[in-house]
Amino acid sequence: MTEPSKPGEPLRPLWWNADVRPHGALEMIDQTRLPGETRTITCTTLDAVWQAIKRLQVRGAPAIGVAAAYGVVVGLNEFEPTDDVWPDRLRQACEYLAKSRPTAVNLFWALDRMRNRAKKLRNLTWLEARDVLLKEAHAIRDEDAAMCHAIGVTGQHVIQDGYGVITHCNAGALATSEYGTALAVIYTAHQQGRKFHVFVDETRPLLQGARLTAWELKLAGVDATLICDNMAAVIMAQRKAHVVITGADRIAVNGDAANKIGTYGLAVLAAAHNIPFYVAAPSSTFDATLKNGSAIPIEHRDADEVRSVLGQRITLEDMPCYNPAFDVTPAHLISGIVTEKGMIYPVDEQAIRAMLRK
Ligand code: MRU
Repeated sequence: MTEPSKPGEPLRPLWWNADVRPHGALEMIDQTRLPGETRTITCTTLDAVWQAIKRLQVRGAPAIGVAAAYGVVVGLNEFEPTDDVWPDRLRQACEYLAKSRPTAVNLFWALDRMRNRAKKLRNLTWLEARDVLLKEAHAIRDEDAAMCHAIGVTGQHVIQDGYGVITHCNAGALATSEYGTALAVIYTAHQQGRKFHVFVDETRPLLQGARLTAWELKLAGVDATLICDNMAAVIMAQRKAHVVITGADRIAVNGDAANKIGTYGLAVLAAAHNIPFYVAAPSSTFDATLKNGSAIPIEHRDADEVRSVLGQRITLEDMPCYNPAFDVTPAHLISGIVTEKGMIYPVDEQAIRAMLRK
């Protein structure tokens, strides 16, 4: 399960290439180039992994977590630490990767898991420890893929024949190990032969909907129409949409869910039109340390992302811009959270804690 996608295989955004000398490398599809170009990046340094996460060459909460897990191994390989200092090197690599992006909790979840695995390896040489940690990163990757497929099974019934479905950003294969979260629900309903139509929000400023979700849905043969973000209300008012489904980057224990900027507005619109609004996410996206969404750290990105579209400036060079990358949808606007362990409904602390204990 560590190879890039081949024809007929699932779309995978990142993989470990053991053939890169001397110790292997993390490879990924450069998502900033899609859909125009499918270019592979090979990361042999910790900094290359950090930059790839920061620049959104790999993005989407679960995929960021998987990339960080492999990034720890890349960090050990790069410095070939002596047997007595490898645990320090690993700690530094984790601290560095944790500063790449703040909102997706999957990043911190994966780094914690790598750190906890390493605690039991202190008596090993760095090469022996590195091998065990590489296996842990593969396990994180494989478990994420399994969770995504299970999310599809849990959620597929929310899409019925004849439905219009709105999704925002990209919560597809590209955002995970494979198959996606919100798009897993769409893919599973499609594989079951249901006939429905997806409206894809373009998702300004970085256009993950237009560039990535549109590309993925086309590849999978799912009927889809691209809309600008400000068109969702009209689609709902015209009764063309029957359900909204998005992913999440971090979900507090009361169900407040951070996701790509614009998700909150979509949830408000869905409530105003009496349309169910679902969030799909694996258990690695829940943050049991946060009582509600007000404490979720929101990434603020460079103003130039708002000043331009695909590198083309659309406003004054020095125009002040506001660029939060995520917003928080309050739990009361979420009809249900689709997880690999079942549907969380109603969305409250009791139901979330019960799911996390399963
Ligand atoms: O800034 P991005 O592209 O990493 O934001 C991604 C999202 O907001 C996704 O909806 C979320 O991470 C869920 S991915 C399964």
